[in-house]
Amino acid sequence: MKRLTLLCIALALGSSAALAQSGRVQRGFTFAQTNCSQCHAIGRFGDSPIPEAPPFRTLHTLYPIEDLAEAFAEGITTGHPSMPQFELDPAQINDLLAYLQSIQG
Ligand code: HEC
Repeated sequence: MKRLTLLCIALALGSSAALAQSGRVQRGFTFAQTNCSQCHAIGRFGDSPIPEAPPFRTLHTLYPIEDLAEAFAEGITTGHPSMPQFELDPAQINDLLAYLQSIQG
């Protein structure tokens, strides 16, 4: 009986960690869909609506994904005037990075 209880606790802990992670990925996806998808391909497949905008799944070829946290916090500025400037709060950055990590090809 005791052993079963421990097993249940272990399972509950394990799955809540996985759920927390998938919550971040899910929120990051929603954020990207709302704010980025009109220009960038945000999924695992497909081309960006704006050809100059790199598909999100290829961002790791431009930068280590972790380095984007700083860029997002300070506001991304690019040479390209059609990319609006975003400043994200730390929670949004966490979510977005979790999502970006999840789709890199
Ligand atoms: C109105 C169109 C548009 C929207 C909306 C947009 N982007 Fe972009 N983005 C671009 C374009 C165009 C480029 C290419 C810029 C360049 O090469 O100078 C770009 C480039 C980037 C880059 C690469 C930057 C670099 O220095 O090469 C990142 C990262 C990025 N966007 C993230 C995002 C994120 C995250 C969002 C949503 C929060 C977003 N973009 C929304 C148009 C957009």
